[in-house]
Amino acid sequence: MTGQTTILGLESSCDDTAAAVVRQSGDQVTILSSVVFGQTGLHSAYGGVVPEIAARAHTEKLDLSVKEALQQAEIRLSDLDAIAVTAGPGLIGGVLAGVMCAKGLSAATGLPLLGVNHLAGHALTPRLTDGVAYPYLMLLVSGGHCQFLIVRGPEDFTRLGGTIDDAPGEAFDKAARLLGLPQPGGPAVEAEAMQGDAARFALPRPLLDRDDCNLSFSGLKTALLRARDRLVAEQGGLTRQDRADLCAGFQQAVADVLSAKLRRALADYLGEVPGRLTVAVAGGVAANATIRARLETVCADLGALFVAPPLALCTDNAAMIAYAGLELFGAGQRDDLTLSARPRWPLDQSRPALVGGGRKGAKA
Ligand code: KG4
Ligand code: ZN
Repeated sequence: MTGQTTILGLESSCDDTAAAVVRQSGDQVTILSSVVFGQTGLHSAYGGVVPEIAARAHTEKLDLSVKEALQQAEIRLSDLDAIAVTAGPGLIGGVLAGVMCAKGLSAATGLPLLGVNHLAGHALTPRLTDGVAYPYLMLLVSGGHCQFLIVRGPEDFTRLGGTIDDAPGEAFDKAARLLGLPQPGGPAVEAEAMQGDAARFALPRPLLDRDDCNLSFSGLKTALLRARDRLVAEQGGLTRQDRADLCAGFQQAVADVLSAKLRRALADYLGEVPGRLTVAVAGGVAANATIRARLETVCADLGALFVAPPLALCTDNAAMIAYAGLELFGAGQRDDLTLSARPRWPLDQSRPALVGGGRKGAKA
């Protein structure tokens, strides 16, 4: 080796086909390229990701994304040290497409293969973007994931809690659908909420009475549906203000739940890892200004450093997979052509599974 390590990463576990090249030279880690082909348009008519359509689109786009990632990085396959690929958890057809593509590249070049856990990719991103040192507390909040993790190493995670039903982004998307707003629902609900009165509707804060770090969002969605139906029954429809107030109330409830559970998770974290406190967030929901501000306030109250990677690296991408691959490669991991795709792959295998698969795949 030349003192530098260059990894190609592939990601195809949900509805983004992505390839990226990440290079480490000494202490310096650089993203040489990061290409993402989204599929929103392909699924929009169905109100959610259709696994077969996603898998087909990944198969069509993977080669192209690899080609573009190499071109943008201005390198060739022969300049790589290894190929990292999301091997789970996620929608099995998409994960398989990525794993098969990576195996083909590995067989053709002789480069080692590294199977990466998608959630580990998210969880290690603050190290890529901000050089955060182990250990730290991670909150994943996206359309498919919601969990609190203590991150101690590239394969050392303790799950403190997570959603027992919907992920928060999934709840935002469903809320938007109930109110006739466009997808993805999060940004649409946030925009409406700006004009709304969060106190007008009494919506529940699920599981806040439980002294643990688990969360639930499906009851909140049902309460929103009831409030909407009551208004429709009383007045024959929703006014603009009704919609804004419902959005504000919903967003406030999610913010209350996430911030209260973060407080609880920080207490649990300190019980296990006394001393330095860094909290990192990842996932599309972390883009919500109200939610982000509430999480920042909790961190400021408790003296924790708050790290939020730039949005393009918070949401699904392959740079995070290449980076996780880099850490695994450094730790001596090597996979081979027996690598298999895993629809379920909890980061913390010692804790029981919390939920079944969601709209955007297994939340593990
Ligand atoms: O991390 P992400 O891009 O994809 C995966 O789920 O893997 O997250 C997308 C989710 C969607 O459900 C979207 O509605 C939500 O993040 N989201 C938001 C906001 N922007 C995106 N939720 C609330 N507020 C936002 N501003
Ligand atoms: Zn993800």
